[in-house]
Amino acid sequence: MSQKQVIVEQFGGPENLLVQDTEIPTPGEGEVLVRLTSIGMNHADLLARKGFYKIASGEPPFTPGIEGGGIIDKVGSGVTSVTEGARVVVTPDAPRAGAGGYGGTYRQYYCVPESKVLVAPDQVPDNMLGALWLPYLTAWGCLIWKHGIKEGDIIAIPAASSSVALAAAQIAKKHGCKTIGLTTSQDKIEKLKALGAAYDHIVLTHEKDENGNRTMLPWHKEMRQLTESKGVNVFFDPVASGQYLSTEIKCLAQFGVVYVYGLLGAPDTVDVTPLIRKFASITGWVLGELMFAGEKVWREGCQHILDGFADGSYKQHIDAEYKLEDVQNAHIEMHKGKHIGKLVLIP
Ligand SMILES: NC(=O)c1ccc[n+]([C@@H]2O[C@H](COP(=O)([O-])OP(=O)(O)OC[C@H]3O[C@@H](n4cnc5c(N)ncnc54)[C@H](OP(=O)(O)O)[C@@H]3O)[C@@H](O)[C@H]2O)c1
Repeated sequence: MSQKQVIVEQFGGPENLLVQDTEIPTPGEGEVLVRLTSIGMNHADLLARKGFYKIASGEPPFTPGIEGGGIIDKVGSGVTSVTEGARVVVTPDAPRAGAGGYGGTYRQYYCVPESKVLVAPDQVPDNMLGALWLPYLTAWGCLIWKHGIKEGDIIAIPAASSSVALAAAQIAKKHGCKTIGLTTSQDKIEKLKALGAAYDHIVLTHEKDENGNRTMLPWHKEMRQLTESKGVNVFFDPVASGQYLSTEIKCLAQFGVVYVYGLLGAPDTVDVTPLIRKFASITGWVLGELMFAGEKVWREGCQHILDGFADGSYKQHIDAEYKLEDVQNAHIEMHKGKHIGKLVLIP
């Protein structure tokens, strides 16, 4: 029996994502075969395709994809924790190239040891099973595990329409914080409000001219007003470019922190002067730090997230679904950045 599997035979553009027929594996002792119903797409997949994320991809040929979830199709001998038909999420440490990893998830069937799946609550629909960890664990790891946000803190969240930002806002609200989303797109403000995104306020940071060129607005003024001049306790930022980062520093409260977890903006000169008098700091964040902290820690985060979905405090927004066969187009659309929330592949 064969399955569809995406294979990158050489680094490059979306045309290098080839959908091939491969054999469906048979689960061995202690293993489970998951029929994937959802594969979360991430910027890391685009980077991997281009050859800029070899830590996950390794060298070609490889299968991209760092998230997945679905239904247990078969169990090998000796499996005790799950049965056929269980709805599961693949653990975040499984989809890696190299030793201890089980390869990328862009495929129909995924075979892993039973310890590499977690049973999902009924509240997570099938098309979302593979789209939880990157948004929610990235935000939980930084805001809760690393920083320890407190009730009443003001958390500012750039790239407000991104899947990680939407998750961060829900996590911050659940912990009693005030949330301010920052977006570069005027038209996304109404859409985010209509979706019920967990922002108390949304601030527009840029305006576009008729040619589509973006200019930054003096958005620190609105931030001063919204924070009643107290400033922001935590920026959770994937943009981190010169003028943008300088404005964030200007908006920080005493002892405030800017966590940089992505580099969507172009590197440029940054004015760090206010950090000194504010006893403030800029620090990097990557989900890998949570994974590095050990299984007990990241499993705690996974459980918190599954519980949040079960009790309804966390809700994910899927912007678009693409068939696995349509993977090239899905990468092209993700690159355009017009979506709100998560894009998923449906095998
Ligand atoms: N460190 C980690 O562990 C980790 C984990 C997951 C993701 N990430 C990174 O986090 C970022 C977001 O990931 P995602 O999957 O949530 O992305 P996404 O859903 O595709 O969101 C991208 C959004 O970022 C904003 N944006 C893009 N370019 C920008 C710029 N130059 N200046 C300001 N805003 C810009 C836009 O939002 P608006 O239109 O709302 O402005 C855009 O829609 C990526 O860079 C990704 O690599 C890091």
